Amino acid sequence: MAPTDCSPGRETFLAEVLAGLLKPQKELPSKYFYDERGATLFERICELEEYYIPRVEASIMQAHIGEMAGLIGPHALLMEYGSGNCEKVRVLLDHLSDPVAYLPVDISREQLLLVAGQLSSEYPKLEVYPICADYLSRFDVPEAKRASKRVCIYFPGSTIGNLDPVPATRFLQRAARVCGSGGALLIGVDLKKDPVVLHRAYNDGEGLTAEFNLNLLRRINRELDCDFELELYRHYAFYNPLRSRVEMHIISQDEQEVHLGGEDISFAWGESIWTESSYKYDLSQFRQMASGAGFNVEHVWTDERQWFSVQYLVRR
Ligand code: AVJ
Repeated sequence: MAPTDCSPGRETFLAEVLAGLLKPQKELPSKYFYDERGATLFERICELEEYYIPRVEASIMQAHIGEMAGLIGPHALLMEYGSGNCEKVRVLLDHLSDPVAYLPVDISREQLLLVAGQLSSEYPKLEVYPICADYLSRFDVPEAKRASKRVCIYFPGSTIGNLDPVPATRFLQRAARVCGSGGALLIGVDLKKDPVVLHRAYNDGEGLTAEFNLNLLRRINRELDCDFELELYRHYAFYNPLRSRVEMHIISQDEQEVHLGGEDISFAWGESIWTESSYKYDLSQFRQMASGAGFNVEHVWTDERQWFSVQYLVRR
């Protein structure tokens, strides 16, 4: 029952941050947003009126859960990538017909173990095997005791939007391998829409997204003994229509230097650190990408405004 622990340690964190800050266009990996404070901030973002994703996705799930459960079928082994607090998967667990096992995959070990324990007592028939890993890298999948009819990977929230096109395709290829022949991927994919709506979603009035973005520097200061002066940096997010992605950056408001792992890193006035991309797809683009990775898009559910989609992909 003890999960493999693959959460990145301090050394990896330092190496990835240094490598990013030494590039000509400075960048930081968005996966590091989610320390305890970051995870809390993200949960608060999810309650904002402007940040439409969780609400629209949940309404699509609610409206079509019967059909989804029907497609997945009985005795499924359900995996979830980036399971977080495991709240979203409950609607699936409640409607699937006799699911065999649930395998949440997350890098945040404490939360993973806590919620896995809760779920397994709430769903006594379900085998729960938490996997502490970065779902973008290779990890071992424990075998369930009962035989399953189909492996289905659940990947909600449009987290795939964080990946550039090439890594996104590679991710889908790996998912296709993990779920095996006949396996499926139930995935939330955010869609192209009015840039004004997108702009508001990543520039909320309460400044929570700004805090979430800048929290990355706070985390680097604390965990890597760095010396970013937080007041001298500012959140900047915009929609880039040529690449159909929202880009989040942190802008240096002064000429300044920080010190990290023996390196002096200098910032020009107005220089940016690119902290996140959030790609927005149209249905045919995503279908093509999925197809290139070995998946057929078997069903797409959207809301009436076509802001978001939940898609059921089956491995060819
Ligand atoms: C969790 C990756 C889907 O890109 O919309 C929210 C993260 N960043 N606000 C997204 C996020 C800024 C979010 N994902």
